[in-house]
Amino acid sequence: MKSLFIAFLFFYLHPIPALSSADYDASTTVSNATDFIRTSCSATLYPDLCYASLSGHANAIRQDPARLARTAIGVSLSRARHMAAFVSNLSREADYGADPRASAALHDCFSNMGDAVDEIQGSLNQMRKLVAPGSESFRFQMGNVQTWMSAALTDEETCTDGFEDVDDGPMKTAVCERAANVKKFTSNALALVDCYAEKGMN
Ligand SMILES: *[C@@H]1O[C@H](CO)[C@@H](O)[C@H](O)[C@H]1NC(C)=O
Ligand SMILES: *[C@@H]1O[C@H](CO)[C@@H](O)[C@H](O)[C@H]1NC(C)=O
Repeated sequence: MKSLFIAFLFFYLHPIPALSSADYDASTTVSNATDFIRTSCSATLYPDLCYASLSGHANAIRQDPARLARTAIGVSLSRARHMAAFVSNLSREADYGADPRASAALHDCFSNMGDAVDEIQGSLNQMRKLVAPGSESFRFQMGNVQTWMSAALTDEETCTDGFEDVDDGPMKTAVCERAANVKKFTSNALALVDCYAEKGMN
């Protein structure tokens, strides 16, 4: 009896708010957008990572494949930039300066990651200037983005090549794991770019 009263009091004091139509629209927009992101991400090699990294941007992406691809490129850019900063920091640490192979590997990795950053940045700039799908200019622009994102993926792959000659250790492990992670974001962004390019060329 007492608990019933408390329950009554609770609902009396906290009436369930009526969902306004604006709230409803906002929540359907987001749930539609997250469905759209989930479905689109299934075309990538790392769908869970794709969804996890993009669903937070559902409001901006809506159900627009161009915005989706552009956001994925932005995520990949920030990952590549962070990786370049990480490698640059490591190369300044005295410990690795003493080992010429480690030092050379870090230097090459930084240089490759820097190239990847430039290519991804170029892709993002191109996506911001994109013309309407279907035209010759659209094909040209998407071709650029595909070329640059593929080049970025190759540069990220090349980043860890020099570490084959470096003795195993925590630094090598950290760099290789992070590089592998960055590649996943770039690979996903490229897959979403390919999907959009394919649809827009019909
Ligand atoms: C959500 O998707 C449904 C079905 O595709 C559509 O009818 C509705 O208009 C969409 N709502 C919003 C707010 O985009
Ligand atoms: C690189 O070093 C700077 C200065 O010590 C630090 O603020 C930054 O967080 C480091 N970045 C990475 C990615 O480790």
